[in-house]
Amino acid sequence: MGTKKHNFSAGPCILPQEVFQKASEAILDFNGIGLSLLEISHRSKDFVPVMDEARAIVKRLMNLDDSYEVLYLQGGASLQFIMVPFNLLTKTGKAAYLDTGTWASNAIKEAKRWGNIDVVGSSADEKYSYIPKDYSVDSSYDYFHCTSNNTIYGTQMKSFPEVDTLKVCDMSSDIFSRQLDFSKFDLIYAGAQKNMGPAGTVLVVVKKDILGKTNRDIPAYLDYALHIKKESMFNTPPVFAVYASLLTLQHLEKNGGIAAAEERNNAKAKLLYDEIDYNPNFEGFAKKEDRSVMNVSFRLTDKSKKEKFDQMWKDAGINGLNGHRSVGGYRASLYNALPIESVQVLVDVMKAL
Ligand SMILES: Cc1ncc(COP(=O)(O)O)c(C=O)c1O
Repeated sequence: MGTKKHNFSAGPCILPQEVFQKASEAILDFNGIGLSLLEISHRSKDFVPVMDEARAIVKRLMNLDDSYEVLYLQGGASLQFIMVPFNLLTKTGKAAYLDTGTWASNAIKEAKRWGNIDVVGSSADEKYSYIPKDYSVDSSYDYFHCTSNNTIYGTQMKSFPEVDTLKVCDMSSDIFSRQLDFSKFDLIYAGAQKNMGPAGTVLVVVKKDILGKTNRDIPAYLDYALHIKKESMFNTPPVFAVYASLLTLQHLEKNGGIAAAEERNNAKAKLLYDEIDYNPNFEGFAKKEDRSVMNVSFRLTDKSKKEKFDQMWKDAGINGLNGHRSVGGYRASLYNALPIESVQVLVDVMKAL
């Protein structure tokens, strides 16, 4: 077995070691039943409690009441770019979107196929290095859509606007990383493969009473109401991804829940941003006030040091530090499972450059 790396990958990404251990045991022998998790029916008495608890734990962690439903679907966050307009946008309606980068733009592109979409704010003018703030959304819109954390650029919404319509948020890259009043949102979705679990499922948290108001004919798989009626088992769910997500959320709950994770995440981000600001070899990409606690984007001030720096962090056992190709430079993703010791290793390498 290789030496465990310091994994700064943006996603799929690091998960707690305990989750890898338990998930691999379940593949060989699930709960001691003499069968693999992968070879039993999703409707068996062994799997149904996994789905039930995976749904229940999300509401406990987010402090949400029974007016919300939790679903584990497939198709990633990208399918939510389509399901949201299908379920919430009326045929003659319009929706307001905030454009904070590639993923937000993709959501806008999909929604435009189905309705009237207004981009109420965009930071495209400065390469998505900040979060637009001066905009308002009135009740003429069916809903407002935003992206809480912009994985590629390393920007994060520190607060959310009061809007006069439904509030929908793509929280793919900062779900369960910080305390928020989740009851202020009507629909939240997040691809699991960052803070929640492996790739293969997308979490949807939806307020039940917002559904059933569109006048569209919704194809079965795209219909939230149908998934709710079938208790997130309309078709075969991604059993492994759901189980591993449950293990990750149980690990989070056992370790102090979202509040404790937020404290650890803030400490990690401070350690790294302080070095970026102090060390003349580096500069941050995102505007300071909008810096993400999850994805830290930065670059060298002198590009001629690239080869040396790249060799140094690789030698230190660091993985996944290259920035997204559209931004360049470096990106350190500090998801929940990344220990502060890994951040210290990176900071030490930066100091030694
Ligand atoms: C904020 C955000 N939204 C959406 C996506 C797309 O997710 P998926 O690959 O699950 O479709 C990503 C992927 O990284 C993301 O970071």
